[in-house]
Amino acid sequence: MTAQLIDGNALSTRLRAEVAQRALALKARGITPGLAVVLVGDNPASQVYVRNKVKACEAGGLHSVLEKYDAQLSQAQLLQRIAALNADPAIHGILVQLPLPPHIDAQTVIEAISPAKDVDGFHVASAGALMTGLPGFWPCTPHGCMRMLESIGYELKGKHAVVIGRSNIVGKPMALMLLQQDVTVTICHSRTPDLKAHTLQADVIVAAVGKRKVLTADMVKPGAVVLDVGMNRDDEGKLCGDVDFAGVSQVAGYITPVPGGVGPMTITMLLVNTLQAAEASAG
Ligand code: GUN
Repeated sequence: MTAQLIDGNALSTRLRAEVAQRALALKARGITPGLAVVLVGDNPASQVYVRNKVKACEAGGLHSVLEKYDAQLSQAQLLQRIAALNADPAIHGILVQLPLPPHIDAQTVIEAISPAKDVDGFHVASAGALMTGLPGFWPCTPHGCMRMLESIGYELKGKHAVVIGRSNIVGKPMALMLLQQDVTVTICHSRTPDLKAHTLQADVIVAAVGKRKVLTADMVKPGAVVLDVGMNRDDEGKLCGDVDFAGVSQVAGYITPVPGGVGPMTITMLLVNTLQAAEASAG
């Protein structure tokens, strides 16, 4: 392997220690940062994700509550819970785990969360703030990717990035964050005819599609920085990303592993956002 690893676990450990310190400082002022995690239904992957989020909160000195509801919960009932959490002074951040059951409209639920508590950064107010460069919560996964780039001291200004994927959660906000750092950004997606022609031009590639081996060694310019947001299973059931790690790590300059790359950073940035929400509430 020629690429250097960007270790999301090591960076998370450092950032979470800072979170714990800042949480202590807030506690000294009588405020314990609090996150409410709401899970509807029994999606097995979601159950693992929310458990990890709650555990990370506890370890970081944040208060967290996990509200679990069965899949039959009505949208009206969920909206009532959101309203109660919006009004709860012990709760500074609200996260509704996605996906929601099909009878519930996710966007309606997200818009019901107070923008001041939108630690996922999915509310239109948060998305609009990111788009216009105003302060607001940034979605955790692309925010974590930006911190990873910062951690290697990578100079982004004037570089060319290719983001593969156009979701509201990763691809679009990722592109906006890179743009804010004077990067020339190309967004590619499932209907892009010749993905390789784009990725071969890129100094930075972010793969966020949710499909194995979307990016292979022949698609990467030597020395490029490759961030792998994918969370897939290989034929043996082992966790793997969107990038063909074995091949691409022979060509890239830097690469994030899966597991141990972007994944832990997503949770870390959730803690950072929750702390930021609590600090803002403290004035
Ligand atoms: N489902 C998959 N990723 C996420 C996330 O970052 N936040 C929420 N709320 N749900 C998700």
